[in-house]
Amino acid sequence: MTQDTPVYSGKAKSLYPTGRAGELLVRFRDDITAFDGVKKDVLTRKGSYNAQVSARLFTLLEEHQIRTHFIRLIDECSMLVRELEMVPLEVIVRNIAAGSMVRNYPIEEGTPLDPPVIVIDYKDDARHDPMLNDDIILALKIVTAEELSLIKEIALKTNIVLSRFFAERGITLVDFKIEFGRDNGTMVIGDEISMDSMRLWDAGSGASLDKDVYRFDKGDVLEVYRQVTERSLDRGEKT
Ligand code: ATP
Ligand code: TYD
Repeated sequence: MTQDTPVYSGKAKSLYPTGRAGELLVRFRDDITAFDGVKKDVLTRKGSYNAQVSARLFTLLEEHQIRTHFIRLIDECSMLVRELEMVPLEVIVRNIAAGSMVRNYPIEEGTPLDPPVIVIDYKDDARHDPMLNDDIILALKIVTAEELSLIKEIALKTNIVLSRFFAERGITLVDFKIEFGRDNGTMVIGDEISMDSMRLWDAGSGASLDKDVYRFDKGDVLEVYRQVTERSLDRGEKT
């Protein structure tokens, strides 16, 4: 299947036709990038770790009646998904202040955010993904008012499900980003939910277990991605 030419190739994933209308194969590549693609590397097995964690989390969400594009894993770095009409929004949910929240506002890293904070960015690399607000989203007609409130509702429900899942595995879900698309008009979660798109801290040590390890050269990023994969797949590793 992956011998075909991709219909799209982004910074970390490539999308391939499957021969079936309405379905796509998402291949998680070993590329890792940060700071708008300024820092980039190839890390063997990184794609498979993100694919396996994404598949586990999409399955978990489906079990909680949260609709996603996920159909099934095809091999360890490829998943079959329903093709969506993607919405150009990066929907970020924050439980603890970190990253750009701390860089941009007078709040200390580690400050709990209760209720969680939703931030929505416009997915547009050329404009460096500017932050939106509800009025701008509606003025740009990116989604309807009904879709926007549904997106927020799904994002908060997803936060509850994922936070509990990781807490049970000794991991704090600090923040994460999800993307949405329309599946025959219904708003569902697409793209990925992985160590590239979540900020995870070890509940015991506070150590980063996500792409921040790569962004800020905090250690062996592949080993961290492997550990989160093992813990997410309940393969017994708790350290
Ligand atoms: P970014 O890193 O900013 O998300 P990118 O395009 O470089 O952008 P990749 O993850 O490499 O990101 O590419 C995956 C692309 O596939 C994204 O543009 C994403 O919106 C799109 N996509 C994800 N799921 C689906 C789907 N089910 N149907 C159609 N497109 C999808
Ligand atoms: P944020 O703190 O806004 O950005 P940065 O990681 O650059 O400090 O990110 C919040 C969360 O959303 C974090 O877990 C990473 C994820 N995220 C993405 O996956 N892609 C993005 O384009 C952005 C802005 C965030």
